[in-house]
Amino acid sequence: MENTGLKETNKQYTKRGLLRYFLKGSVALFLFAVACGMIMTFLSVVIPKIIGFTIDSVIGDAPPPASYSGIVELFGGIAALKDRIWIVAIVIIGIALIATVFKYCSAYFNTRANEILMRRMRNTLFSHIQRLPLSWQTENNTGDIIQRCTSDADVISNFITNQFFTLVRVVFLLALSLVFMFTIDVRLAAIASAFIPALIGYSLFFHVRARASFKRCDENEGVLWTYAQENLTGARVVRAFGTERKERDKFAKQNDYYTGLWVRLERFMALFWTTSDFIAALQLLFIVVIGTLFCVRGGMSAGDLVAFVSYNTMMLGPVRQLGRIISNLSKVGVSLGRIAEVMNAREEEYTASGEPLSGDIVFDDVSFAYESGKPVLANVSFTVPQGSTFGIIGATGSGKSTIACLIDGLYKADSGTVTIGGRDVKQIPPPTLRGNIGYVLQEGYIYSRTISENIAMAKDGADDAEVRRCAKIACLDDNIAGFANGYETVVGERGVTLSGGQRQRVAIARTIARETPYIIFDDSLSAVDSETDAKIRANLAELNGAATTVIISHRISTVMRADSIIVMDGGKIAERGTHAQLIAAGGIYKRIYDLQTALPDEIEKEADGDEK
Ligand SMILES: Nc1ncnc2c1ncn2[C@@H]1O[C@H](COP(=O)(O)OP(=O)(O)O)[C@@H](O)[C@H]1O
Ligand SMILES: [Mg+2]
Repeated sequence: MENTGLKETNKQYTKRGLLRYFLKGSVALFLFAVACGMIMTFLSVVIPKIIGFTIDSVIGDAPPPASYSGIVELFGGIAALKDRIWIVAIVIIGIALIATVFKYCSAYFNTRANEILMRRMRNTLFSHIQRLPLSWQTENNTGDIIQRCTSDADVISNFITNQFFTLVRVVFLLALSLVFMFTIDVRLAAIASAFIPALIGYSLFFHVRARASFKRCDENEGVLWTYAQENLTGARVVRAFGTERKERDKFAKQNDYYTGLWVRLERFMALFWTTSDFIAALQLLFIVVIGTLFCVRGGMSAGDLVAFVSYNTMMLGPVRQLGRIISNLSKVGVSLGRIAEVMNAREEEYTASGEPLSGDIVFDDVSFAYESGKPVLANVSFTVPQGSTFGIIGATGSGKSTIACLIDGLYKADSGTVTIGGRDVKQIPPPTLRGNIGYVLQEGYIYSRTISENIAMAKDGADDAEVRRCAKIACLDDNIAGFANGYETVVGERGVTLSGGQRQRVAIARTIARETPYIIFDDSLSAVDSETDAKIRANLAELNGAATTVIISHRISTVMRADSIIVMDGGKIAERGTHAQLIAAGGIYKRIYDLQTALPDEIEKEADGDEK
């Protein structure tokens, strides 16, 4: 992967700064493309001049202009040219051929540069997003983020390769045409160019008004993709609750709205194009009528008029393209702004270090809310002594996962402190923190790769033996033996589907492979049956007696052997103690215990998940 300048992390980009940053590495190629484009333009501008000369001096009898004498002599003088008029044709074809070669070079360099630019944009955005804090990801939805990385990046590359490129060529062509037109006839050129400000002003007026509409269209495209994306990732939920029709209607409604916005915008733009066509036609009419008058009265030759009209036509196209480019300028501005928003989101400070952490985990009067006004944790204090096992139990939504997130530094406490070995986790660089904490999520994400890769991915250079060892500890080896390709079985979208319990155990094996001094199991045994759960915990206790372990569960049997247990209730610690103390206390814990042990084993197994 190329260097995407990650050292310049937390730099704030303006739109222009961002563009300049993205263009590093491709700008020379673009300039080359532009240079070839300009040469091509110049060559094509010369052709009408030759045609005009041919009409007047080769076919007609006007003496060739003095500035042509050198070239005319090269071909043996005007008399020779009159005899062999095909020479002129060959010269024109020759120039057209050379222009084509430059056109090809220009397109080639342009495409190469574009690929480099796109690759750089994608890499930069991807690695930046990887480093953004989790809170940013939760605030921004995935569909919108993906749109910024795809559509908006496309708009930008399209602007550079297409519009900016055209802009340079158009301005150059306009300047050249005007120079030639003024040398042919000042009066006619003045009339022709009087229309230019009007045409440009007119298109500006329209396009400035269209800018807001473009922005609204883009935003609604983002909403649409978010719907689609949420439905694809949440397909199971949609099916399970039978809400397909509702989802379809919701999508259709948004889609209609989005389409409606485009139709309105297109109608508005159509009005612009037709009226500006009319103005352009009017201009041409003026030129032809007045030019013809000049010819009839003398003072302008037929060849000059033909050349002049050619230049005028050549110039009008670009002048009207200028309007489209300006419209896209607003679009590219919107896209650049949206990408700049992503790029300017603060990355987590990245100072990679392999420093090990040690000591107790201490929560001191910690309060936290995801959204202000809705406290999730209130005045939570507890200590997890180094090397001990700490159990957290509580109902769904009581704040258990939030505690895990705060330990892992995914979110920061609003008040109070979370410390590890006396160091505030806010002050510990995230890579150091996460290098020391193995965090097994309830819904461990399984990638569409092989089982072996899924386990090995968390640790660089984990070999097969290690993968097997970890799978064994997570009681996964028997399951894997049952797959046709064993450890090389591809899982996820492209391969076999794992049961909830199997997924959780892959996630556990992955974390074990990292051999971190701290491990958090966030409800990560919930879909595993009690027996396997006990076996995994026994394996773990044997393996890392030294690791400080936090086990979060809604199942008493999972936490009961912990050295110390807290019971969470609505963001507060309701009870604390060892299993024996909590049972003796006869509070919530005792009630949960009675409820869970009263369940016959069979029922519990079923309630626990989809383990076979
Ligand atoms: N990313 C989030 N944004 C807003 N609210 C959240 C977020 N995550 C969890 N919550 C809310 O915080 C509360 C505690 O959630 P959580 O810590 O996940 O509970 P538990 O793990 O005990 O089920 C719940 O009310 C939940 O809705
Ligand atoms: Mg949870």
